[in-house]
Amino acid sequence: MAMVIQSLLDHLRTRLTREGAMTVADFMGEALTHPASGYYMHGDPFGAPSAAGGDFITAPEISQMFGELLGIWCVDTWMRLGKPDPCLLVELGPGRGTLMADALRATRLVPGFHDALKVQLVEISPALRERQRESLGAHRITWLDNVGQIPEAPLLLVANEFFDALPVRQFEQTREGWAERVVVLDDAGKLTFALAAPSPANRVLIPATLRDAAKGSLVEICPAALNIAAFLGHRLARQPGAALIIDYGPAASTPGPTLQALRRHKRHDVLEAPGTADLTAHVDFQSLAQGATAAGCTAHGPVTQGTFLKALGIEVRAAQLAESAPRAAAALTAARKRLTDPTEMGELFKVLALTPRDMPPPAGFESLSPPLSSHGEGG
Ligand SMILES: C[S@@+](CC[C@H](N)C(=O)[O-])C[C@H]1O[C@@H](n2cnc3c(N)ncnc32)[C@H](O)[C@@H]1O
Repeated sequence: MAMVIQSLLDHLRTRLTREGAMTVADFMGEALTHPASGYYMHGDPFGAPSAAGGDFITAPEISQMFGELLGIWCVDTWMRLGKPDPCLLVELGPGRGTLMADALRATRLVPGFHDALKVQLVEISPALRERQRESLGAHRITWLDNVGQIPEAPLLLVANEFFDALPVRQFEQTREGWAERVVVLDDAGKLTFALAAPSPANRVLIPATLRDAAKGSLVEICPAALNIAAFLGHRLARQPGAALIIDYGPAASTPGPTLQALRRHKRHDVLEAPGTADLTAHVDFQSLAQGATAAGCTAHGPVTQGTFLKALGIEVRAAQLAESAPRAAAALTAARKRLTDPTEMGELFKVLALTPRDMPPPAGFESLSPPLSSHGEGG
């Protein structure tokens, strides 16, 4: 690990000596996905606080119920779409492959569903691809490098805690307008934050509702997330399908900063030892929905994760599992609470669905007010 830190630091110092400064997004991209030493590229960061090596834990790793319910959501949506065959089942950033394994197991008896599916995983990390191969060995899987490689076909897409790993740019409101926060080297050769000169061009990048935020406000934008939202919006404007995006962040664009580094379940200095801690930022669901709907689809929600999982029947599933394994009942209750309680993951985590414009709300979104279907509405 020491070699990994040193080589990434050396690489960043070389870049900064040559370029003077890099955006926070450039830094985040290097720290997470540099081919040799990026955080995701060389290991398995998942695990409970007690497990050796784990930095964070995600919903599918907390309980099988999460992936099972998402699998049922996919079947239900597939049926509402008229059972397209073939149908792509794509997951973005599948981690250990646990969600997909649970989703496929829960749906294996649905007539025709698995026969119609082509399962594709968008994963950048060779180490995690290997882990996914182990979890999903029984299934025929294709790996893709990026969303742009998803073939043209009816599509069910799931992304859990993928968008929060995409690089964000940060802008600060100054007396002279919006200035980009950048990473530079200080006199001692240490990475540090600085502000680039303000530019009127920055203003158009800021979500409209935040452009006149008070001096000192810091706003994060995620160009990669907006590009993917636009890709999905275009795709769902011409092909049947649906996308389900689950992540943490506010329903409406909100000033930050939210960029954080996590190592062994504890906050860590963002610029210290890049490549050794997970870097994430809250997902701006309003901008995601607007990016997708501007490209031609409809956005449903976001709803909170707690509301969504309860609508899909997590309580019934927990009771079923407890009945067949009474000794696991307390653990199942704790997991259900962790996933749904407002004081845990139930409220901070949101669920957004994207569908073609003429499609009624999918499961979990039926009781909402009219969906967002064009740029700038609602949200
Ligand atoms: C926080 S993990 C979430 C894993 C999984 N979805 C879960 O819920 O356990 C982020 C995942 O996205 C992948 N990833 C991060 N950046 C990526 C990118 N630019 N392209 C493709 N995959 C990426 C990581 O390797 C990892 O599998």
